[in-house]
Parts: sequence; C-alpha cells; structure tokens
Amino acid sequence: MKIRIINGPNLNLLGTRKPDVYGHKSLDEVNEFIEGYFKRVELDFFQSNHEGLIIDKIQQAAHEADGIVINPGAYTHYSYAIRDAIEAVDIPVAEVHISNVHGRVDFRSTSVISEVCSGTVSGFGIYGYVLAVQALAHQLKRKAE
Ligand code: DQA
Repeated sequence: MKIRIINGPNLNLLGTRKPDVYGHKSLDEVNEFIEGYFKRVELDFFQSNHEGLIIDKIQQAAHEADGIVINPGAYTHYSYAIRDAIEAVDIPVAEVHISNVHGRVDFRSTSVISEVCSGTVSGFGIYGYVLAVQALAHQLKRKAE
C-alpha cells in the first residue's frame, strides 16, 4: 500500500515558522517522524509552494499511489483548483492541519476541500499526519476485503 503525503505553501518553513503553532521540527524531521510509524505502508513525500505543482502531484497519484494525505496550507481556504483535482482522482484523500484551524482567525475555519476528502485531522500537531495515514490505510484495507 502506497500513500503520498503532500504539503503546500510555507510548510517548507516548518521548524522556523511560528514554532509555537507548528512545532520545532523541520519538514524533513516531520517526514522522518511519520515514516517511523509505518513499516508496511510505503510513503512518498512532496512539498510545493505552487498550486499547479500540487495539482500535478494529486493527478499523478491516481496512477502512483493508493491514497493521499494533504496539508494544502493556506490553499485549503480558497483553492477550488486543488478541490477539483482531489474530486477528480479516484483514490481517497485525507486532509491534515497541524494547528486547530477552528480555534484561530475566522478565515482558517473555512476549508473548500473538506467536502471532497474522506476526513480531516486538525489540531494534533504533526501526529495528525500519522493519524491520517492510519485512517486511510484502514479505509483502503476495508475496501479491499
Ligand atoms: C495549516 C493551517 C493553514 O491555515 C495555514 O495557512 C497553513 C498551515 C496547518 O497545518 O495548520 O499553512 O494548514
């Protein structure tokens, strides 16, 4: 089973960007942290600050992975293009936010992608990525039975 983990804009700055909100680990350290939880799930990682590149990776995942975990950063709140890409691929997608988007400024509690995702994990820090991979793996296994 293969899951692609996609991070959007500014998540390359993890470790230095608002560590009180997003933690002290760099993106590479976060990816290592996630990998440490999984032996039987193959993970690949992608980060971009560019909407089109994120959309390309979502589209390619339809042929290259069984599911996607995505933290689209601020694109969460307004990218109908990313929403359409998620809706277009025939594999499950889980939405992750490191922070609790419902406990911050108002615009962060709107997600234009939640409706086309299997589910959302928000507010559990980087452990949210682990939870999302576990949830997708469970969903995919159930579907295969
Ligand atoms: C975020 C929350 C977004 O509102 C913000 O723009 C991000 C990160 C999170 O992981 O908590 O870049 O998606």
